Amino acid sequence: MNNVFIDVTVLEPRMKHPTIFDAFDSVAEGYAVVIHNDHDPKPLYYQLLGERGNCFSWTYLSNGPEIWEVEIKKNEKNSETIGEIASKDMRKAQLLKKLGIDFCCGGKRSLEEACIDKGLDVHRVKEELQNAERATQAGPNLDFNSWTLSFLADYIINVHHTYVKESTQLLGELSEKVATHHGQNNPILVDIRNKTHELLRELNTHLKKEEQILFPYIKLLETPGFDKNKPHGFDSVKSPIWMMESEHDAAGALAREIRTLTNDYTRPANSCNSVGLLYHKLEEFENDLIQHIHLENNILFPKAIELENKL
Ligand SMILES: [Fe+2]
Ligand SMILES: [Fe+2]
Repeated sequence: MNNVFIDVTVLEPRMKHPTIFDAFDSVAEGYAVVIHNDHDPKPLYYQLLGERGNCFSWTYLSNGPEIWEVEIKKNEKNSETIGEIASKDMRKAQLLKKLGIDFCCGGKRSLEEACIDKGLDVHRVKEELQNAERATQAGPNLDFNSWTLSFLADYIINVHHTYVKESTQLLGELSEKVATHHGQNNPILVDIRNKTHELLRELNTHLKKEEQILFPYIKLLETPGFDKNKPHGFDSVKSPIWMMESEHDAAGALAREIRTLTNDYTRPANSCNSVGLLYHKLEEFENDLIQHIHLENNILFPKAIELENKL
């Protein structure tokens, strides 16, 4: 199906998101669903990202104050070389390395050619690459809303907090290396290093607060016999949530600054592989951060407030 136009203002509220999702699923790669709305449909962006993954572009054709029109375009999956596969996703690069597939000097070959050279089953390798991608991204069928808050909190820690912690050393060192080696010729790489280090520092402090204070309290709310009138360090779960949300805003702003500095993660012409890897890792990191914050701001936190109010 080619481009689809949906006037969301004439749809029943309960039909709005399902209609848009159906249309998005039906359009062919490279085509778009254009939605016309009377308010900013940003929550849809996060829902689509959570349920379909990073497979679309989101462009405002009209951005208020009365009319919002957004083009949601489904990305095309081109047949990529192994160099492209590796440079776009560090997890896939690590898997290729483990399989002994050379994606640096031999990076211009297709995956099929590389597998034949190594005597590997290409279907199996494709499957493993998909599994590597799922390691830190939400699968399309995960129904986060149906989970208990304790399970969701554990999921966020095990998937997203672990990803941030595992990425911290690599991103810290890679941005440092790139700034040291190429910063004199391209000072923007020094700014990128500084912003990246600031983001990593702030996020790691933030994760500790969630893991040590907020998430244990949210789990307590679900414990039978919990008495909210007993002292727990704060009057209401709303206080730490507000603090976490303002820290999310600050982290999101830093990630956007990095996105701007890297020109939407567009690797500069003639730059070395380290710069390419840094840009792709930063893009991957921002994508993970968006999903991470989406799960907290839009699901875990509102449900925790609702549960506390009921007790
Ligand atoms: Fe978190
Ligand atoms: Fe958070």
